[in-house]
Amino acid sequence: MEVRKIAVLGAGLMGHGIAQVAAQVGKFNVNLRDINQEFLDHGMSMIKTSLQRFLKKGVITQKEVDETLKRIHPILDLKEAVSDADLIIEAVPENVKLKKSVLSEVDGLAKPDAYLASNTSSISITLLASATSRPEKFCGLHFFNPPQLMKLIEIIRGAKTSDETISLLVDVTKKMAKDPVVVKKDCAGFIVNRILVPALNEAISLVWEGIAEPEDVDKAIRLGLNWPMGPLKLVDYLGLDTTLSIAEVLRDNLDPKYRPSPLLRQMVRAGLLGRKTGKGFYDWTK
Ligand code: CAA
Repeated sequence: MEVRKIAVLGAGLMGHGIAQVAAQVGKFNVNLRDINQEFLDHGMSMIKTSLQRFLKKGVITQKEVDETLKRIHPILDLKEAVSDADLIIEAVPENVKLKKSVLSEVDGLAKPDAYLASNTSSISITLLASATSRPEKFCGLHFFNPPQLMKLIEIIRGAKTSDETISLLVDVTKKMAKDPVVVKKDCAGFIVNRILVPALNEAISLVWEGIAEPEDVDKAIRLGLNWPMGPLKLVDYLGLDTTLSIAEVLRDNLDPKYRPSPLLRQMVRAGLLGRKTGKGFYDWTK
């Protein structure tokens, strides 16, 4: 089957970027769906801002900006968004109950031969697939933030994912000029978050234990390991709530040693979630 139309569910931080990459680079027709007009408008405005950045740098032309925007259709109605899609990428908030209920509804509305994928960063692919009647046509498709710039995609096999699904998704992501890796087993954290989140958690522990200031932890890792941004800035960028929930999944599914730092939990309780709330380890309001 050739994928021509992709539906992206959720126009948030990841969804808008996935829709943009699919339309801009992959030249796919994209239905971008969210639950209210405000979320859709915000997603489209983030896409326009990002396209303007590429235009300003000369990466793309005005014609490509216009054509990309023409290929993206913002839609509120779920049935309209998914019924003619060959591939549906779910990027709704990281909540098991919500994801399962959206996927089960989508399964009933999508074409019988359509493929489904989830951009979850931590939830079991096999569990999400069980909400559908087509687990062999379901896999994880984990983009990295910001999806417009990050080359990697993790393609994750659930217990029943077919070889055909994996090879189709490898082809689709290559058309988006991404560099996919296949995660052969459905395992908490996949590859990147299994390594990244414990490192971020250690950075937070260094601050909690009074060993160094956040700026110095970040400076050490930027200059010592050549990371593009320090771990605490990255936590702010990803969201402290997201980081906490991934750490909890690692702890619950792999080993108690992955337990989140008390400071991470405390900051989430205080609403200090990073960039999205204006404050985390840094002040993002300026
Ligand atoms: N669209 C288009 N261009 C963008 C953009 C976007 N959304 N965001 C940034 N850019 C461009 C900017 O225009 C700028 O271009 P020039 O350098 O040519 O001027 C460039 O990217 C750098 O941007 P900034 O100067 O604003 O900021 P920066 O130097 O800090 O770079 C960054 C931003 C690319 C995000 C970089 O800091 C970086 O690579 N950080 C690490 C990101 C990372 O680790 N992501 C993975 C997180 S893990 C994850 O996502 C998985 C999970 O499940 C948690």
